[in-house]
Amino acid sequence: MTTTGSGIILGDPVPWFGVPEAINGKIVRAEFHYSGGRPDRLFADDAATRRAGRTAKPPRRSHFRVTAANIPDNIVRLRLPRGAAHQQKGDAAMDLGMTGKTALVTGGSAGIGKAITRVLAREGVDVAICARRKEPLEQTAAEIARQTNRKIVPIVADLTKPEDAENFVKQAHAALGRIDILVNNAGSSPGGVLDHLSEADWAQSLQLKFMGYVRCLKHVLPIMQKQKKGRVVNLIGNDGVKYSYWEIAPGAANAAGQNLTKSLCSQYGKDNISFVAVNPGPVRTERWTGLVKAMARDMKLSYEEADQLAPKSIPLGRIAEVDEVANLVAYLASDLAFFVNGTMIEIDGGQDKVLMDRMRDR
Ligand SMILES: NC(=O)c1ccc[n+]([C@@H]2O[C@H](COP(=O)([O-])OP(=O)(O)OC[C@H]3O[C@@H](n4cnc5c(N)ncnc54)[C@H](OP(=O)(O)O)[C@@H]3O)[C@@H](O)[C@H]2O)c1
Repeated sequence: MTTTGSGIILGDPVPWFGVPEAINGKIVRAEFHYSGGRPDRLFADDAATRRAGRTAKPPRRSHFRVTAANIPDNIVRLRLPRGAAHQQKGDAAMDLGMTGKTALVTGGSAGIGKAITRVLAREGVDVAICARRKEPLEQTAAEIARQTNRKIVPIVADLTKPEDAENFVKQAHAALGRIDILVNNAGSSPGGVLDHLSEADWAQSLQLKFMGYVRCLKHVLPIMQKQKKGRVVNLIGNDGVKYSYWEIAPGAANAAGQNLTKSLCSQYGKDNISFVAVNPGPVRTERWTGLVKAMARDMKLSYEEADQLAPKSIPLGRIAEVDEVANLVAYLASDLAFFVNGTMIEIDGGQDKVLMDRMRDR
């Protein structure tokens, strides 16, 4: 019989399973899964054993089996090297029980969308991705399929066009057979202050970042209703909840998307469809480089000075890496987080946006 329990990694419980052999109440075999990197120590969590300095040989992988030879008691601690979780580059599976599921990720050819696609595929999910440019889209699909052995379906679509959104969902559904997860991610919105933003800037901002999400939802939700289950993760942005006068166009589009996420959860709960929004602060992607360049131009700063503004507004002193956002999205997309519904989560290192505006003012 399989038993479950938990060990501890740097104070956090880590699930383990599989205790087919327990002798005299002591576990002689267990399997561990965790995603934080290779532990440098494995030892029993009882004072006598620790005093005796009985530690085990470090395991080499993120999924490993301990046996009587290296597990001295029935509670185990894994000690990770400091900062190991940050060194992880999304190459360790979290084992979220997602094998065999299917997902659509918009804007999956680059940046955060590509990282989300890779993490989902590593968790065993088949994914359809879309973007406007065929070549990078197909390259990404082939690369992730090769790395993960999952089906990654590239479908060219410009989500500012209603017919492309419809075609993306139709083709993806036909290729994958069902749609368990929708990750709305493709979006961009011009930064800048009110007097710099043109009518076209505002229209463009809402066209993709808000209406692109609406269009995909319109076609995906009826499919999820028929399935009697579905999960939607809307990748939005912290500008919608942390106001900044330099980012009013993204702020407006984000607030609209956040409102949409919360509103739809009331309507579709009866169909067993749940919704969550993820609000990143600055994340290191090519788009971020473009935003820093625009900031440097508008504020008459060097690129290096402009690049320092965001980290200075974040207590953790750096911007996010794409894998950090992707890992959160994968967890939220899994059944483990299905009940996290009609709400949103910031992943921005605790950024203080007002401070960023003040630094721009100086
Ligand atoms: N990076 C950040 O700092 C940050 C912060 C907060 C929120 N976000 C949000 O996170 C999401 C991803 O951002 P990112 O930085 O990863 O962007 P990115 O690196 O620019 O990638 C955007 C992806 O979307 C695709 N795309 C762009 N326009 C599209 C369109 N009209 N139709 C379909 N696909 C389109 C792009 O491919 P093609 O160009 O070939 O179409 C690409 O695959 C966006 O919604 C963004 O607002 C990002």
